Amino acid sequence: MLVRCLYASRMAKPMAPATLRAILEDSRKNNVKNGITGVLISTGDAFIQVLEGGRAQVSQTYNHIASDKRHSEVTLLSFESIPQRSFESWSMGEVTIGQLNPTVLLKHSATMQINPFAMSGAAVLALLNDLVASGTVVCGNATRGKR
Ligand SMILES: Cc1cc2nc3c(=O)[nH]c(=O)nc-3n(C[C@H](O)[C@H](O)[C@H](O)COP(=O)(O)O)c2cc1C
Repeated sequence: MLVRCLYASRMAKPMAPATLRAILEDSRKNNVKNGITGVLISTGDAFIQVLEGGRAQVSQTYNHIASDKRHSEVTLLSFESIPQRSFESWSMGEVTIGQLNPTVLLKHSATMQINPFAMSGAAVLALLNDLVASGTVVCGNATRGKR
């Protein structure tokens, strides 16, 4: 049974690019092992992450991530069973705020700022799907698990 988990969190402190790279490297290694795919958006002060895979694996990974001290206020936006994956190409795809197309953002958000804590899970998921459709998601091949 496949599920999709979507959450938002706040960075504990401004994140050095090397720290973000290390998180993505760990994620890709573990996610390939656990059959998990997804995308991580970093907005500068917050994260949005979608995780897809088996229910047990996604639950365990989410619980593990939620206890990571590098972020806080981990807020579940949605957790649902799905007929198929939408982010199957990424062991953990990556989007940083500079890559976000303001038009795509404005389509889904009340302002040009992305504030996942003020958006519904459905709106955040629609934004993610548009980012995939517009080719904004980069790196993290799902089968190789590396850049
Ligand atoms: C925002 C964020 C997203 C993360 N995403 C994942 C992920 O998708 N998969 C994963 O295994 N670890 C992810 N991590 C890292 C885990 O919290 C943890 O550091 C990593 O799995 C290594 O755990 P270990 O030291 O117990 O082996 C993420 C961490 C943060 C802060």
